[in-house]
Amino acid sequence: MSEPVIAPVLEAQALAKHYSVSTGFLKPKALARALDGVSFTLAPSHTLAVVGESGCGKSTLARQLTMIEAPTSGTLNLNGADVTHADATLKKQLRQQVQMVFQNPFASLNPRKKIGHALEEPLVINTPLAAEARTETARAMMARVGLRPEHYARYPHMFSGGQRQRVAIARALMLSPKVVVLDEPVSALDVSIQAQVLNLLMDLQDETHVAYVFISHNLAVVELIADEVLVMYLGKVVEQAPKTTLFATPRHPYTRALLASTPRIDATARQTRQVLTGELPSPLNPPSGCAFHKRCPFAVPRCEAEVPLLEELGGGQRVACHRVHEIVR
Ligand SMILES: Nc1ncnc2c1ncn2[C@@H]1O[C@H](COP(=O)(O)OP(=O)(O)O)[C@@H](O)[C@H]1O
Ligand SMILES: [Mg+2]
Repeated sequence: MSEPVIAPVLEAQALAKHYSVSTGFLKPKALARALDGVSFTLAPSHTLAVVGESGCGKSTLARQLTMIEAPTSGTLNLNGADVTHADATLKKQLRQQVQMVFQNPFASLNPRKKIGHALEEPLVINTPLAAEARTETARAMMARVGLRPEHYARYPHMFSGGQRQRVAIARALMLSPKVVVLDEPVSALDVSIQAQVLNLLMDLQDETHVAYVFISHNLAVVELIADEVLVMYLGKVVEQAPKTTLFATPRHPYTRALLASTPRIDATARQTRQVLTGELPSPLNPPSGCAFHKRCPFAVPRCEAEVPLLEELGGGQRVACHRVHEIVR
């Protein structure tokens, strides 16, 4: 029996963000296509991982999804509502439904504010709850993320990296959002602490049915937590697939190179080693055709001339590569 179709909670269509950047005194401005046409759908209780090298546009995508910035073009639907064309009142409501967790939560915590009060802040602004009820809600949330009651009155500097990330997760969940966007949430933590935080995230998802957009450059972490994986290169999606498909049969040369350079738990699952050489080009001056062609061992003249489109290969796997049918797996 096939799974029933669940309405997506988040839907991005050709989402793009172009920044106008100065290239020097009296020089004309240039356009950086940080995000260049990204589409996906995300169902409740599901995790979409977004991977790719530093500079490929992951954080830019996060800022569009969380409404911190407005996209240059494309549409974004949150729980059936059109975010891109929403008026101020609707935008305020929608902002509560999508929350963000950053790599360094310390930066967004007021050092002079007790953690308990920091957790209550979203309730002060967005709910009619009285002080006592707010405190109760904050204490209950602390217990759910594995913080102890005495942590309530402590200040941010008194917490370890893992605990701070638990605080950030608790804060993101205070308004029961539909979606949480996590931008490299465990990248700064020790490996053993990473596993604890990932397990907590998965438990919270089981309890609340929240959907995650999980941004990471670390495929080993993604393999643990993702349902679906989106691989980005220079602002574009080069491959998207269910996690097991992506790790078992990656089809884009870039995905294969990323996987080959990641230490895997199961060594036999390793692909033939293909090392990623050179650097990610600048979005100010992207290569013609397929943006990956200069680093691709399979590139032919067509790759330099023509931009490859995403092609559906079956089973939910989509790949943007001219040579996808010729490259031997
Ligand atoms: N506000 C901005 N103005 C100009 N360029 C930007 C801005 N934000 C990001 N960029 C550029 O967009 C590209 C993608 O950046 P980012 O989204 O931070 O990538 P990632 O999170 O994957 O490392 C980079 O080349 C970056 O320099
Ligand atoms: Mg980033």
